Amino acid sequence: MENQANKLKSLVKPNLDNHVTHVVAITSGKGGVGKSTVSANMANILSNHGYKVGLLDADIGLANLDVILNVRIQKTLLHVLKGECSLEDIIIPIKSNLFLIPGESGDEILKYNDQFIYERFFEEAKSLDGLDFLIIDTGAGIGETIQIFLEAADEVIIVTVPDPAAITDAYATIKVTSKIKDSLQMILNMTRNEKEAELIFEKIKKVARQNIGPRLELNLLGKLPEDKGVSRSIKQRTLFTNDSPNSTASMDMKKIVNNLVYRLERKVLDDKSSRSFGGFFKRLMEQF
Ligand SMILES: Nc1ncnc2c1ncn2[C@@H]1O[C@H](COP(=O)(O)OP(=O)(O)O)[C@@H](O)[C@H]1O
Ligand SMILES: [Mg+2]
Repeated sequence: MENQANKLKSLVKPNLDNHVTHVVAITSGKGGVGKSTVSANMANILSNHGYKVGLLDADIGLANLDVILNVRIQKTLLHVLKGECSLEDIIIPIKSNLFLIPGESGDEILKYNDQFIYERFFEEAKSLDGLDFLIIDTGAGIGETIQIFLEAADEVIIVTVPDPAAITDAYATIKVTSKIKDSLQMILNMTRNEKEAELIFEKIKKVARQNIGPRLELNLLGKLPEDKGVSRSIKQRTLFTNDSPNSTASMDMKKIVNNLVYRLERKVLDDKSSRSFGGFFKRLMEQF
């Protein structure tokens, strides 16, 4: 066990002193809009760029990141928080620089508040301090615990598709989340082209401005086309950014990642000392 912890620590060693982990939460109003597809491929591109990336599945239960990444999950964060195993035991290395952290729905995670186990957890979490990014695939909807995850994240990305029901639900998420965030990012998935994505985004932005006011910065991080290659990759449990790295979908995904990295690098962080994997969980637990 000790050995394994050390191994993880060396795999996830920080590149620099004064290192921070950027926490990015991916959410949506409606399910089935591409959150997990986006999360997994975003994490893949970031890791290809040399960043160390943790991918936290906080929406387990349905066919999710484990299915997309074609791995078998045995234990999750819930087992760690119950004291049944260590954090290192549950982490699944996907490839160099990319680690899957099987979670559980936020409701389950936040039910456990044993101080003793927390302390051990935060101690163990130090082996993930070297992560450059923690990408969280949250559940859909405006539930309270999802909001707690979003609040603790540095950047929140709302995924939607062009259909009216999804847009209405995305808007509900924007409205609720605007109470805890001054800026929100959007990805328009399964669009026909850039123009369609921009038109839809402008509409959402207009409604948000009218109802929420200018305080909220709503930004279009990018779009993805509806693409048979994307759904084919999902079906065969591979990543479209690996299968066809030069397709429009992959190029769009790279643009999204570039925009995200650019934003995060310009962000002035208030308290660097808490910008770590453990720091994120501390923020999470404190809000609960
Ligand atoms: N850009 C896309 N083009 C074609 N199909 C897509 C695209 N994005 C997602 N899908 C399909 O939509 C389904 C739901 O995506 P998923 O990422 O599981 O959504 P969520 O995590 O939001 O529930 C996937 O099975 C996939 O086949
Ligand atoms: Mg999903």
